[in-house]
Amino acid sequence: MMKNKFSTKLPVLLASVAVLGAVVAGCGTTSSNSDPAKLGFQDRGRQLFNANCGTCHVLAQAASTGTQGPNLDDAFAAARSAGMDSDTIKGIVRAQVHRPQDVNGDYPGVTMPANILEGNDLEDVAAYVAAVAGVPGIEPPTAPGEGPGAQVFANNGCGSCHTLAAAESAGTLGPNLDEVIPTLSKAEIHESIVDPGAKIAAGYPNAMPSDYGTKISAQQLNQLIDFLMTSAAADDKG
Ligand code: HEC
Ligand code: HEC
Repeated sequence: MMKNKFSTKLPVLLASVAVLGAVVAGCGTTSSNSDPAKLGFQDRGRQLFNANCGTCHVLAQAASTGTQGPNLDDAFAAARSAGMDSDTIKGIVRAQVHRPQDVNGDYPGVTMPANILEGNDLEDVAAYVAAVAGVPGIEPPTAPGEGPGAQVFANNGCGSCHTLAAAESAGTLGPNLDEVIPTLSKAEIHESIVDPGAKIAAGYPNAMPSDYGTKISAQQLNQLIDFLMTSAAADDKG
């Protein structure tokens, strides 16, 4: 299943990263990501990955499906099974985000943008990828909440900006969904998700991603809306 082309170029990347790895190791950032099985939806690195990387990369633990760039499980599986540790993988991911290399010719016309994330965000996303990429049999965490829509909510990072008790999320950048969903019709909820700029909730920034209409399939969108309507309605105490 694994694509060998990834393993052939890794040593090249590794050589350029060996020096950097020493610097990274001295950075003092402690990784809480040592047990990949425990990485849930609240993990910051996972949320950052889904918001910034998952549109282009498959990564099983993140349940991401982007195909513009290489599958990151395939990219690191061989190296990991050959004994490469997570700190080394973290150094490679970090270097790639900092200064993307054209690691192979398989993605003509797509360039990974440089410095999508920096500082602590870069540390967190690199630690996350390093903890989960290429780990045999790894699966995404099970979302809190009932039904398939709960998984759609979690996988799309809605909870990082919105509070919804049923999803155990506590984001505050956007409106509290327990409070607003019961005031909205199904059509209004649909529009809020696929075209968030059409009507901006009073007192909030126009900061909701505008590409959910293309990232979430019609079926998943229905599941998501069902989940919102049933869980917000069921939660009378707010
Ligand atoms: C616009 C699409 C795009 C986004 C967004 C993106 N990447 Fe990439 N990434 C690519 C492409 C394309 C490549 C392959 C490089 C090449 O061949 O040009 C790549 C390569 C990589 C590699 C090297 C994989 C290997 O085979 O060795 C890593 C690691 C990586 N990306 C991590 C990330 C992380 C982490 C993020 C988010 C911070 C991210 N990428 C965001 C497109 C993207
Ligand atoms: C990066 C932060 C962010 C993410 C991620 C995000 N939202 Fe939002 N959302 C906002 C903000 C800010 C607003 C208020 C501005 C507006 O109306 O667009 C909002 C508005 C909404 C509204 C309308 C609320 C009202 O009072 O009319 C709904 C419904 C909603 N979001 C659902 C979702 C769902 C479902 C997801 C995941 C698919 C999601 N949001 C992801 C930030 C976010």
